Amino acid sequence: MAIQKVGVVGCGLMGSGIAQTCAAAGFPTVVREVSQELIDKGFKGIEKNLARLAEKGTITAAAQEEIRGRLKGTTKLDDLKDCDLVIEAIIEQLPAKRELFSALDGLCPAATIFASNTSSLTITEIATATKRPQRFVGLHFFNPVPVMKLVEVVRTIATDPGVYEEAVAFGAKLGKTPVRAHDSTGFIVNRLLVPYLLDAIRALEEGVGSIVDIDNSMKLGCGYPMGPFTLLDFVGLDTTYYISQIMFDEFKERRFASPPLLKRMVLAGWNGRKAGRGFYDYSDPANPKPMKF
Ligand code: 3HC
Repeated sequence: MAIQKVGVVGCGLMGSGIAQTCAAAGFPTVVREVSQELIDKGFKGIEKNLARLAEKGTITAAAQEEIRGRLKGTTKLDDLKDCDLVIEAIIEQLPAKRELFSALDGLCPAATIFASNTSSLTITEIATATKRPQRFVGLHFFNPVPVMKLVEVVRTIATDPGVYEEAVAFGAKLGKTPVRAHDSTGFIVNRLLVPYLLDAIRALEEGVGSIVDIDNSMKLGCGYPMGPFTLLDFVGLDTTYYISQIMFDEFKERRFASPPLLKRMVLAGWNGRKAGRGFYDYSDPANPKPMKF
């Protein structure tokens, strides 16, 4: 069965990006949020992105309308019951995700495929909240979703091989490069990215270099689009801290352990760009200034 209609649960940064990407690839997409206010906020971001693409001539005004027309926002979970694939992008908390999928399991036909966009939770543990673990995969997207070309497609020991291939094919239909990963905490990208980001903080703590010099080193010396501190602020320090805790808990290896400075910054609410302050101060967003510790 080919995937034709997509449901997305969560219309935050990731959910709205996933919904935009699905609609742009031609899939009618229903997005569910808990309140109309959150739907409006997410859709405003999507409309802004589409308008920018139309202004630049990347898409035509007609395509902009078509993509917008394929998107429907709802507060009712019930509206996802005729979707062939439901992608979850809600808060990174296991009980919330399990509760959601248990409810969806009761609503959606047996054939519907379920996917979680979790970055660090175990897909197997989320899938066991349903009676269809064989039709459950991870689809892990990257921020900003419409721009980043990768999707990690994650299989558990219970995932049906045919369902997995459908998920891989779906990732390719979105215009992404799907990579195949086992349900190992952090999958491929965060397995490598998180220790790198944490090591940058350790290097700063040890006085190896300044925030700007470490950022410039990786940008200009290695061609990374963002240095580690700019990326930490972009991803969110709270998010990175949370992922590192889950990874440390799983592997018990120092490379996944949060450096003391990261913990203190999260405790202080300095969570990065979204908080106006992280490793940089964003009082003037066009000209972030490195923080002094
Ligand atoms: N939404 C949609 N489009 C966006 C965007 C956004 N939030 N931000 C930028 N863009 C688009 C721009 O419109 C532009 O499009 P164009 O090429 O068609 O003109 C393109 O992206 C490049 O943007 P800019 O020229 O403004 O800026 P940059 O060249 O610096 O690119 C960036 C911005 C794409 C964010 C780039 O800096 C980058 O790739 N940074 C690294 C991002 C990254 O590593 N993401 C992964 C984070 S880890 C993760 O998500 C996993 C999780 O589990 C932690």
